Amino acid sequence: MKVLLIGSGGREHALAWKIGQSPELEKLYCWPGNPGTGEIGENIKGDFKDPDKLASWARVQGIDLTIFGPEAPLVDGLADSFSRRGLIALGPGKEGARLEGSKSWAKEVMRRAGVPTGDYLVTESMRQVEEHLSGKDGPYVLKADGLAAGKGVLICEDRETALKEARSILEEKRFGAAGNKLVIEEFLQGKEASLLALCSGGDYLLFAPSRDHKRLKTGDEGPNTGGMGAYSPVLEIPYSKQKELGELIFLPILDYLKGRGIDYRGILYAGLMLTEQGPKVLEFNVRFGDPETQAILPRMESDLLPYLYSAARGEIRRESLQWKEDACLCVNLVSGGYPGSYEKGYPIKGLERLNPETIVFQGGTEIKDNQLVTSGGRVLGVTSLGKDLEKAREKAYAELEKIDFKDKYYRKDLGRL
Ligand code: AMP
Ligand code: GLY
Repeated sequence: MKVLLIGSGGREHALAWKIGQSPELEKLYCWPGNPGTGEIGENIKGDFKDPDKLASWARVQGIDLTIFGPEAPLVDGLADSFSRRGLIALGPGKEGARLEGSKSWAKEVMRRAGVPTGDYLVTESMRQVEEHLSGKDGPYVLKADGLAAGKGVLICEDRETALKEARSILEEKRFGAAGNKLVIEEFLQGKEASLLALCSGGDYLLFAPSRDHKRLKTGDEGPNTGGMGAYSPVLEIPYSKQKELGELIFLPILDYLKGRGIDYRGILYAGLMLTEQGPKVLEFNVRFGDPETQAILPRMESDLLPYLYSAARGEIRRESLQWKEDACLCVNLVSGGYPGSYEKGYPIKGLERLNPETIVFQGGTEIKDNQLVTSGGRVLGVTSLGKDLEKAREKAYAELEKIDFKDKYYRKDLGRL
């Protein structure tokens, strides 16, 4: 099978790593890819900003399956361009991708489908925001409706800050058109978990649950990031609870979409808060998680590629995915300054000193003058398996000490929260 993988981060390197092991793979192309995916497949160059050009390229190349990593091309309808050309692609069309592209739409779908989620209000008016917040105690949760590069969720302790932030979104257009609408959501408490499902034809298969660590600093403090690391499995969601969770969350959503004529083919990712009243959905993403994928795939025994291919063609394979008992932890090494501004181009040293079983997923890297250098915020994901989480932790943290680049930063408490 000839596969095209779209994206360039640690998640895509993890997907390339897993797909690269499949006996069904004939050739992997990545666009644009990164040095990590380039070791497994071929990174294709070329300006494919015009989505139709990429679909044409895939057609000419005889690509059997295209897999979408990031959300933006899906929200823009790139999967539809592929389908229109008769190409097989894993990732929802524009309509299905609204589950991530519009938080107000996701909330409405959850309400109509009866999926548990926090109470909320969608508004475009500051007057309504003021009315809604008065008489309510904080913290207050504000979400810009559209895609805001992972920065659109604000948790404000006091009302004054919440009003100021709401104004900056609705009136000052801090997130541009993504903030034309605001979702104000009930503040939920509990532990978080990410549950991903491979969906097609109204059916789904669950991936092993995982947990990412979004806050920048050790102790779960500092600003939210794209994710400082992740682990799997999650003790609060044992195997025995997973079927029930799938029926609570994925089945009703897929049924609802089907009723609207949407056959959702792709990954659906539910960000959950495990509250005292039960699990509630914080958000949906229409793609694999980053860095959850880096912690999930090393645990997978099954050959992922045929599952993805089958789902992209409209059918979920009957056999469940098989998982190793081992736990897996991925710790991201990030550029100092991330998620704000940071310098790039620092040489990355020490990878040759790692134990062979350690997996390093590359995210923000590039090759300059034959040297691997930093080129993004989340540079590397150092990933280890262990018989339990503590063992995986020991290994990953010992290994990441061997890697060096200027301003390297990482959280020291991953896997403990
Ligand atoms: P989201 O992008 O919607 O997952 O939000 C990013 C992060 O904000 C989540 O991982 C949570 O830590 C936090 N968050 C989002 N919604 C809520 C909520 N209703 N209550 C408490 N925390 C939330
Ligand atoms: N780890 C969060 C995300 O992929 O959106």
